Amino acid sequence: MSFVNVKKQYLALGMMIFVLLFLINNNKPAFQCQFNQEEPVYLPTIYGITPTYARLAQKADLTRLSQTLMLVKNFHWIVIEDSETKTKLVENLLKESGLKYTHLNVKTHKSKHSTASGVEQRNLAMDWLRGHLKSVEDKRGVVYFMDDDNTYSLKVFEEMRKINKVGAWPVGIVGGMRIEMPLVTDGKVTGYNAVWKPFRPFPIDMAGFAINSTLFLDKPEAKFSRKVQSGFQESEILKYFTTRDQLEPLADNCTKVYVWHTRTQKPSIIDVKKLKHPVPVFDSIEV
Ligand SMILES: *[C@@H]1O[C@H](CO)[C@@H](O)[C@H](O)[C@H]1NC(C)=O
Ligand SMILES: *[C@@H]1O[C@H](CO)[C@@H](O)[C@H](O)[C@H]1NC(C)=O
Repeated sequence: MSFVNVKKQYLALGMMIFVLLFLINNNKPAFQCQFNQEEPVYLPTIYGITPTYARLAQKADLTRLSQTLMLVKNFHWIVIEDSETKTKLVENLLKESGLKYTHLNVKTHKSKHSTASGVEQRNLAMDWLRGHLKSVEDKRGVVYFMDDDNTYSLKVFEEMRKINKVGAWPVGIVGGMRIEMPLVTDGKVTGYNAVWKPFRPFPIDMAGFAINSTLFLDKPEAKFSRKVQSGFQESEILKYFTTRDQLEPLADNCTKVYVWHTRTQKPSIIDVKKLKHPVPVFDSIEV
Protein backbone atom coordinates (compact mmCIF):
# COMPACT_ATOMS: atom_id res chain seq x y z
CA MET A 1 0.00 0.00 0.00
CA SER A 2 1.57 3.24 -1.05
CA PHE A 3 1.54 6.36 1.03
CA VAL A 4 -0.67 8.14 -1.53
CA ASN A 5 -3.32 5.38 -1.34
CA VAL A 6 -3.51 5.54 2.48
CA LYS A 7 -4.01 9.29 2.30
CA LYS A 8 -6.86 8.82 -0.21
CA GLN A 9 -8.61 6.32 2.10
CA TYR A 10 -8.37 8.70 5.04
CA LEU A 11 -9.68 11.49 2.85
CA ALA A 12 -12.70 9.38 1.80
CA LEU A 13 -13.39 8.38 5.42
CA GLY A 14 -13.16 12.02 6.51
CA MET A 15 -15.60 13.09 3.86
CA MET A 16 -18.03 10.33 4.83
CA ILE A 17 -17.93 11.44 8.48
CA PHE A 18 -18.48 15.03 7.37
CA VAL A 19 -21.54 14.12 5.27
CA LEU A 20 -22.87 11.94 8.10
CA LEU A 21 -22.52 14.75 10.65
CA PHE A 22 -24.20 17.14 8.21
CA LEU A 23 -27.18 14.80 7.80
CA ILE A 24 -27.52 14.21 11.55
CA ASN A 25 -27.37 17.93 12.19
CA ASN A 26 -29.95 18.59 9.50
CA ASN A 27 -32.39 16.31 11.27
CA LYS A 28 -32.20 18.48 14.35
CA PRO A 29 -33.48 21.89 13.33
CA ALA A 30 -33.66 24.88 15.64
CA PHE A 31 -35.98 24.39 18.64
CA GLN A 32 -38.67 26.78 17.50
CA CYS A 33 -38.89 25.21 14.07
CA GLN A 34 -39.36 21.76 15.56
CA PHE A 35 -41.95 23.15 17.99
CA ASN A 36 -43.99 24.63 15.14
CA GLN A 37 -43.83 21.53 12.95
CA GLU A 38 -44.47 18.79 15.46
CA GLU A 39 -46.36 20.40 18.34
CA PRO A 40 -48.53 23.23 17.04
CA VAL A 41 -50.03 25.30 19.85
CA TYR A 42 -53.74 24.49 19.96
CA LEU A 43 -55.95 27.58 19.60
CA PRO A 44 -59.67 26.95 20.10
CA THR A 45 -61.88 28.68 17.52
CA ILE A 46 -63.72 31.73 18.78
CA TYR A 47 -67.24 32.08 17.34
CA GLY A 48 -68.28 35.72 17.68
CA ILE A 49 -72.05 36.20 17.36
CA THR A 50 -72.95 39.76 16.37
CA PRO A 51 -76.49 40.95 15.64
CA THR A 52 -76.59 44.19 13.63
CA TYR A 53 -79.23 46.53 12.21
CA ALA A 54 -79.27 49.30 9.59
CA ARG A 55 -78.56 52.81 10.92
CA LEU A 56 -76.36 55.73 9.98
CA ALA A 57 -73.37 54.66 12.11
CA GLN A 58 -73.63 50.95 11.21
CA LYS A 59 -70.78 50.88 8.72
CA ALA A 60 -68.54 52.91 11.05
CA ASP A 61 -69.24 50.54 13.95
CA LEU A 62 -68.79 47.39 11.86
CA THR A 63 -65.59 48.74 10.31
CA ARG A 64 -64.07 49.39 13.72
CA LEU A 65 -65.10 45.99 15.05
CA SER A 66 -64.03 44.05 11.94
CA GLN A 67 -60.61 45.67 12.07
CA THR A 68 -60.18 44.52 15.67
CA LEU A 69 -61.24 41.02 14.64
CA MET A 70 -58.66 40.93 11.84
CA LEU A 71 -56.06 40.72 14.60
CA VAL A 72 -57.67 37.71 16.31
CA LYS A 73 -56.39 34.29 15.28
CA ASN A 74 -58.78 31.42 14.60
CA PHE A 75 -61.85 33.63 14.73
CA HIS A 76 -65.18 32.93 13.00
CA TRP A 77 -67.59 35.87 12.86
CA ILE A 78 -71.31 35.11 12.68
CA VAL A 79 -73.10 38.33 11.70
CA ILE A 80 -76.89 38.38 11.71
CA GLU A 81 -78.75 41.29 10.19
CA ASP A 82 -82.07 42.37 11.64
CA SER A 83 -83.69 42.58 8.20
CA GLU A 84 -85.91 40.74 5.73
CA THR A 85 -82.99 40.41 3.32
CA LYS A 86 -79.22 40.68 3.54
CA THR A 87 -77.92 44.15 2.69
CA LYS A 88 -75.15 44.92 0.21
CA LEU A 89 -73.48 47.13 2.84
CA VAL A 90 -72.92 44.29 5.29
CA GLU A 91 -72.23 41.73 2.55
CA ASN A 92 -69.48 43.88 1.04
CA LEU A 93 -68.00 44.78 4.40
CA LEU A 94 -67.71 41.12 5.37
CA LYS A 95 -66.25 40.12 1.99
CA GLU A 96 -63.66 42.88 2.05
CA SER A 97 -62.66 42.15 5.64
CA GLY A 98 -60.95 38.88 4.73
CA LEU A 99 -62.37 37.43 7.94
CA LYS A 100 -63.83 33.96 8.21
CA TYR A 101 -67.54 34.74 8.49
CA THR A 102 -71.11 33.54 8.20
CA HIS A 103 -73.72 36.09 7.09
CA LEU A 104 -77.31 35.50 8.22
CA ASN A 105 -80.47 37.57 8.53
CA VAL A 106 -83.78 37.46 10.38
CA LYS A 107 -86.26 40.23 11.14
CA THR A 108 -87.01 40.97 14.80
CA HIS A 109 -90.55 40.34 16.05
CA LYS A 110 -90.83 42.95 18.79
CA SER A 111 -94.04 43.13 20.76
CA LYS A 112 -95.31 45.54 23.39
CA HIS A 113 -94.26 43.01 26.02
CA SER A 114 -90.72 42.59 24.78
CA THR A 115 -88.45 45.19 23.22
CA ALA A 116 -85.25 43.17 23.70
CA SER A 117 -82.99 43.32 20.68
CA GLY A 118 -80.96 40.51 19.22
CA VAL A 119 -83.14 37.63 20.45
CA GLU A 120 -84.09 36.17 17.04
CA GLN A 121 -80.67 36.98 15.59
CA ARG A 122 -78.67 35.23 18.33
CA ASN A 123 -81.01 32.23 18.26
CA LEU A 124 -80.59 31.90 14.49
CA ALA A 125 -76.81 32.09 14.95
CA MET A 126 -76.91 29.31 17.56
CA ASP A 127 -78.99 27.12 15.21
CA TRP A 128 -76.42 27.67 12.48
CA LEU A 129 -73.59 26.96 14.90
CA ARG A 130 -75.08 23.65 16.03
CA GLY A 131 -75.41 22.51 12.41
CA HIS A 132 -71.86 23.63 11.71
CA LEU A 133 -70.39 21.91 14.79
CA LYS A 134 -72.12 18.65 13.88
CA SER A 135 -70.42 18.78 10.47
CA VAL A 136 -66.87 19.47 11.68
CA GLU A 137 -64.52 17.06 13.38
CA ASP A 138 -63.04 19.50 15.89
CA LYS A 139 -65.99 20.93 17.82
CA ARG A 140 -63.85 22.69 20.40
CA GLY A 141 -64.14 26.43 20.67
CA VAL A 142 -65.87 29.24 22.51
CA VAL A 143 -68.96 31.29 21.74
CA TYR A 144 -68.93 35.02 22.49
CA PHE A 145 -71.97 37.29 22.06
CA MET A 146 -70.60 40.57 20.74
CA ASP A 147 -72.44 43.86 20.23
CA ASP A 148 -71.33 45.70 17.11
CA ASP A 149 -70.49 48.92 18.99
CA ASN A 150 -68.62 47.61 22.06
CA THR A 151 -64.86 48.01 22.40
CA TYR A 152 -62.79 44.83 22.66
CA SER A 153 -59.17 44.51 23.74
CA LEU A 154 -57.32 41.68 22.00
CA LYS A 155 -56.66 40.38 25.51
CA VAL A 156 -60.29 39.41 26.04
CA PHE A 157 -59.95 36.87 23.21
CA GLU A 158 -56.78 35.41 24.72
CA GLU A 159 -58.63 35.00 28.02
CA MET A 160 -61.65 33.21 26.60
CA ARG A 161 -59.57 30.50 24.94
CA LYS A 162 -58.79 29.27 28.48
CA ILE A 163 -62.46 28.50 29.14
CA ASN A 164 -63.40 25.05 30.33
CA LYS A 165 -67.19 25.56 30.43
CA VAL A 166 -68.25 29.18 30.99
CA GLY A 167 -65.80 32.00 31.70
CA ALA A 168 -66.58 35.50 32.98
CA TRP A 169 -64.68 38.79 33.37
CA PRO A 170 -65.34 42.45 34.16
CA VAL A 171 -67.02 44.81 31.69
CA GLY A 172 -66.17 48.53 31.72
CA ILE A 173 -68.74 51.35 31.74
CA VAL A 174 -71.98 49.39 31.91
CA GLY A 175 -75.06 49.21 34.14
CA GLY A 176 -74.43 52.71 35.46
CA MET A 177 -71.03 51.66 36.81
CA ARG A 178 -67.35 52.09 35.98
CA ILE A 179 -66.99 48.30 36.18
CA GLU A 180 -69.57 45.55 36.45
CA MET A 181 -68.08 42.21 37.40
CA PRO A 182 -68.14 38.94 39.32
CA LEU A 183 -66.59 39.17 42.79
CA VAL A 184 -63.84 36.60 43.25
CA THR A 185 -62.50 35.05 46.46
CA ASP A 186 -59.75 32.40 46.36
CA GLY A 187 -60.21 31.99 42.62
CA LYS A 188 -63.99 31.39 42.88
CA VAL A 189 -66.94 33.61 41.97
CA THR A 190 -68.67 34.45 45.25
CA GLY A 191 -70.93 37.30 44.16
CA TYR A 192 -71.45 40.23 41.85
CA ASN A 193 -71.15 43.99 42.22
CA ALA A 194 -74.05 44.94 39.91
CA VAL A 195 -76.44 47.63 41.15
CA TRP A 196 -78.80 47.50 38.15
CA LYS A 197 -81.25 44.63 38.84
CA PRO A 198 -78.84 42.83 41.20
CA PHE A 199 -81.52 40.17 41.77
CA ARG A 200 -80.89 38.80 38.27
CA PRO A 201 -79.65 35.16 38.41
CA PHE A 202 -76.53 36.32 36.53
CA PRO A 203 -76.20 40.10 36.97
CA ILE A 204 -73.57 40.48 34.23
CA ASP A 205 -73.49 41.94 30.72
CA MET A 206 -73.45 39.94 27.48
CA ALA A 207 -69.86 41.14 26.87
CA GLY A 208 -68.73 39.67 30.20
CA PHE A 209 -68.82 35.96 29.45
CA ALA A 210 -68.19 33.27 26.83
CA ILE A 211 -69.33 29.65 26.60
CA ASN A 212 -67.55 26.49 25.44
CA SER A 213 -69.05 25.71 22.01
CA THR A 214 -69.29 21.96 22.66
CA LEU A 215 -71.91 22.74 25.33
CA PHE A 216 -74.26 24.02 22.63
CA LEU A 217 -74.52 20.49 21.26
CA ASP A 218 -75.11 19.09 24.76
CA LYS A 219 -77.96 21.60 25.29
CA PRO A 220 -79.85 21.85 21.98
CA GLU A 221 -82.75 23.55 23.79
CA ALA A 222 -80.66 26.51 24.98
CA LYS A 223 -81.85 29.79 23.49
CA PHE A 224 -82.73 33.40 24.23
CA SER A 225 -86.35 34.20 24.97
CA ARG A 226 -88.83 37.06 24.45
CA LYS A 227 -90.68 35.93 27.58
CA VAL A 228 -88.16 37.33 30.07
CA GLN A 229 -88.03 40.89 31.38
CA SER A 230 -85.40 43.35 30.18
CA GLY A 231 -81.88 42.65 31.42
CA PHE A 232 -82.54 38.94 31.87
CA GLN A 233 -81.26 37.67 28.49
CA GLU A 234 -77.80 36.91 29.91
CA SER A 235 -79.35 34.94 32.77
CA GLU A 236 -81.71 33.21 30.34
CA ILE A 237 -78.88 31.73 28.26
CA LEU A 238 -76.40 31.12 31.10
CA LYS A 239 -78.87 29.07 33.13
CA TYR A 240 -78.58 26.22 30.60
CA PHE A 241 -74.82 25.96 30.96
CA THR A 242 -73.66 26.92 34.44
CA THR A 243 -74.55 28.09 37.91
CA ARG A 244 -73.76 31.34 39.70
CA ASP A 245 -70.76 29.94 41.54
CA GLN A 246 -69.45 27.71 38.73
CA LEU A 247 -68.44 30.59 36.47
CA GLU A 248 -64.71 30.53 35.75
CA PRO A 249 -63.22 33.93 36.63
CA LEU A 250 -60.76 35.12 33.95
CA ALA A 251 -58.80 38.36 33.36
CA ASP A 252 -56.53 37.79 36.38
CA ASN A 253 -59.35 36.69 38.70
CA CYS A 254 -61.55 39.53 37.41
CA THR A 255 -59.09 42.31 38.24
CA LYS A 256 -58.67 43.55 34.64
CA VAL A 257 -61.03 45.27 32.21
CA TYR A 258 -60.59 44.02 28.63
CA VAL A 259 -64.00 44.98 27.19
CA TRP A 260 -66.09 48.16 27.38
CA HIS A 261 -69.80 48.53 26.80
CA THR A 262 -69.34 51.63 24.63
CA ARG A 263 -72.36 53.03 22.80
CA THR A 264 -72.20 54.97 19.57
CA GLN A 265 -74.15 58.19 19.89
CA LYS A 266 -77.05 58.49 17.46
CA PRO A 267 -75.94 61.12 14.93
CA SER A 268 -78.28 64.04 14.30
CA ILE A 269 -78.40 64.84 10.62
CA ILE A 270 -79.74 67.95 8.89
CA ASP A 271 -82.03 67.38 5.91
CA VAL A 272 -80.02 69.35 3.38
CA LYS A 273 -82.78 69.02 0.78
CA LYS A 274 -84.96 71.28 2.88
CA LEU A 275 -82.38 74.07 3.26
CA LYS A 276 -83.19 77.50 1.80
CA HIS A 277 -79.84 77.41 -0.01
CA PRO A 278 -79.49 73.73 -0.93
CA VAL A 279 -76.05 72.10 -0.94
CA PRO A 280 -75.14 69.14 -3.15
CA VAL A 281 -76.59 65.77 -2.07
CA PHE A 282 -74.51 62.59 -2.36
CA ASP A 283 -77.17 59.95 -1.73
CA SER A 284 -75.41 57.40 -3.93
CA ILE A 285 -72.28 57.34 -1.74
CA GLU A 286 -72.39 54.68 0.97
CA VAL A 287 -71.62 56.04 4.45
C1 LIG B 1 -64.49 22.69 25.80
O1 LIG B 1 -64.96 21.38 26.09
C2 LIG B 1 -64.30 20.37 25.35
C3 LIG B 1 -64.99 19.04 25.67
O2 LIG B 1 -65.14 18.86 27.03
C4 LIG B 1 -62.81 20.36 25.71
O3 LIG B 1 -62.14 19.40 24.95
C5 LIG B 1 -62.21 21.74 25.43
O4 LIG B 1 -60.88 21.81 25.85
C6 LIG B 1 -63.03 22.82 26.18
N1 LIG B 1 -62.50 24.16 25.97
C7 LIG B 1 -62.43 24.80 24.79
C8 LIG B 1 -61.92 26.20 24.81
O5 LIG B 1 -62.77 24.31 23.74
C1 LIG C 1 -56.57 33.43 41.02
O1 LIG C 1 -56.64 33.21 42.41
C2 LIG C 1 -56.27 31.89 42.80
C3 LIG C 1 -56.55 31.73 44.28
O2 LIG C 1 -56.04 32.82 45.00
C4 LIG C 1 -54.81 31.64 42.42
O3 LIG C 1 -54.44 30.33 42.79
C5 LIG C 1 -54.64 31.84 40.93
O4 LIG C 1 -53.27 31.72 40.57
C6 LIG C 1 -55.15 33.20 40.51
N1 LIG C 1 -55.12 33.29 39.06
C7 LIG C 1 -54.54 34.31 38.39
C8 LIG C 1 -54.54 34.20 36.92
O5 LIG C 1 -54.04 35.26 38.94
